[in-house]
Amino acid sequence: MTLTKTATNVTSELPAGWKNAYERDRSDGADYADPAPERQAARALTAFIAGGLAFLAFPGTILGVWNLIEITSRRSAGGASTAWIQAHGQAQVLGWVGSFILGISLYVLPKFRGWTLKKFGAVWAVWALWTAGVAWRWWAGVRPVEWRMGLVASALLELAAYALAQRILLFSPSEKRKNSGRHAPSDLGSWLGIVGFAGLGLALAINLGIAIDVSLTRSLPVYPAHLDHLLLIAELWGFVVPLAWGYSTRFVTIFLGLDPPDHHAARWLCPAIVLVVLSAFTFRFWITDILALATTLAAVHALRIFHPPARPAKLLYIYQRYPLFIRISFGWLVAAVTLAVVADAVPRITGLGGASRHALTVGFIATLIFALAPRMLPAFLGGRELYSPRLMATSLWLLTGGCLMRVSCEAIAYTSLPGATVWSILPVSAFIELSAVLVFATNMALTLRQAPPAWLEPDSVSAELPLYWFVTSFPRTRGLLIEAGLTTLARVKDPPRTLSLRAAAAVDGVEIDQLLQILSQFFASRRPRLRGRQTLVGS
Ligand code: HEM
Repeated sequence: MTLTKTATNVTSELPAGWKNAYERDRSDGADYADPAPERQAARALTAFIAGGLAFLAFPGTILGVWNLIEITSRRSAGGASTAWIQAHGQAQVLGWVGSFILGISLYVLPKFRGWTLKKFGAVWAVWALWTAGVAWRWWAGVRPVEWRMGLVASALLELAAYALAQRILLFSPSEKRKNSGRHAPSDLGSWLGIVGFAGLGLALAINLGIAIDVSLTRSLPVYPAHLDHLLLIAELWGFVVPLAWGYSTRFVTIFLGLDPPDHHAARWLCPAIVLVVLSAFTFRFWITDILALATTLAAVHALRIFHPPARPAKLLYIYQRYPLFIRISFGWLVAAVTLAVVADAVPRITGLGGASRHALTVGFIATLIFALAPRMLPAFLGGRELYSPRLMATSLWLLTGGCLMRVSCEAIAYTSLPGATVWSILPVSAFIELSAVLVFATNMALTLRQAPPAWLEPDSVSAELPLYWFVTSFPRTRGLLIEAGLTTLARVKDPPRTLSLRAAAAVDGVEIDQLLQILSQFFASRRPRLRGRQTLVGS
């Protein structure tokens, strides 16, 4: 147990009660449940989520809508700048989805593996490197000034962030390793996570190779079509899809009340994913698409997504129909891989490839995130509540409607005559999807802006609880307690962990009842908003 520098420096001038408590902290060595690492982990996760939302809304979706408007106004699939299309794709896949996955993984994986992350400097470095890397990659695509350096430097930054994240995740604290030994995981989710992170490493290495090649040989920041396709397969099938399946084994199974997934499937599902990605190196993408179709059908079966649930779904304080949208997202995934195979079989229908990609990225990935994130993220972010289940419902319906419109019209429009009405439906679909994204991002941003609620009942506030617990779990209480007379608290950064509220009050000569009343009022003002609400959206 370590004391902060501030606390150590002033310890000698503190009242005896505090000095003794610090001494007890040092000599006792007990590992008290400390709320500080959880708060720091939630803060770091908030930064990843806020960064991801910013990428989703502006460099991602607004640029995507702009590209689609360019395409429809010229009535040609090649009507938009290829550099801008690729910048949009990178911002969505690595900027939005990548930031979410990295942040969530750094938050939950240590917990899943039974240890607590206590030092957060490296986590913040991952966030800074990753955010700078993806932002620079986007900028190099949309403003081709110094783009050669931008492409290569951004690829290096992304790789550095990846390497650091792997270092954090793979090298757990040594004492924990000694106790647990090194066992190969036995569950499907862990294996999918291993494959997914290896896939991300491969995708980032491919990206660096292409970035160097393009910066040396090309006059525009545009990746050649076949290499861009290879990169997208590595990113989507090597990284995003396996991690989406991996996290589904944990969260979708629990939230939807499904039977546990078929863990034995790891033996063939993981090699099948590796095969999908490796097959792309042959540049015969029809092989990749057939393998992806077979792998997807097997994965959906192993995850038991469409099997009757074994238990009721978890529906409290959330849009009641979200389980339907999780199933719809997996339906989109099956549609995406089927459309890709049809696109290979009928190459003259040029829009089928784009429709398949949109069904995968928006239909599967975005719908799954829109349905799962509001259920799981608020709890990770300091026990917050979702700002609005109604906004969640709105975003899911809009996204599904817009995606349906886009996927069904794209294949027809791209092979139609310029005068065909179907061309004018495409921008409408884009604006519906944009509205869905903005509603989702606003709901999540407002969720993050709320102060974390107090799940402690006001009348459970006890004088025997450590002062440290109050001020670390709810930093606002520090000011209230100092104002009420706990003047010693103002002189230290972290109070001793073994000093109870009662003992601290006695040292500073403050009435304990007065402190308890102030804290009860504080906890009453922080009661969860949705708890106890009778009417739930969609119920
Ligand atoms: C929500 C509104 C969106 C709109 C209006 C949109 C629009 C577009 C357009 C017009 C293209 C060009 C290819 C084509 O004509 O189909 C494209 C490509 C792409 N989009 Fe989107 N998109 C959206 C959302 C997303 C999302 C959420 C993701 C990822 C999670 C995504 C990932 C991609 C990728 C990877 C490409 C291919 C980029 C490349 O060729 O390198 N898009 N999008």
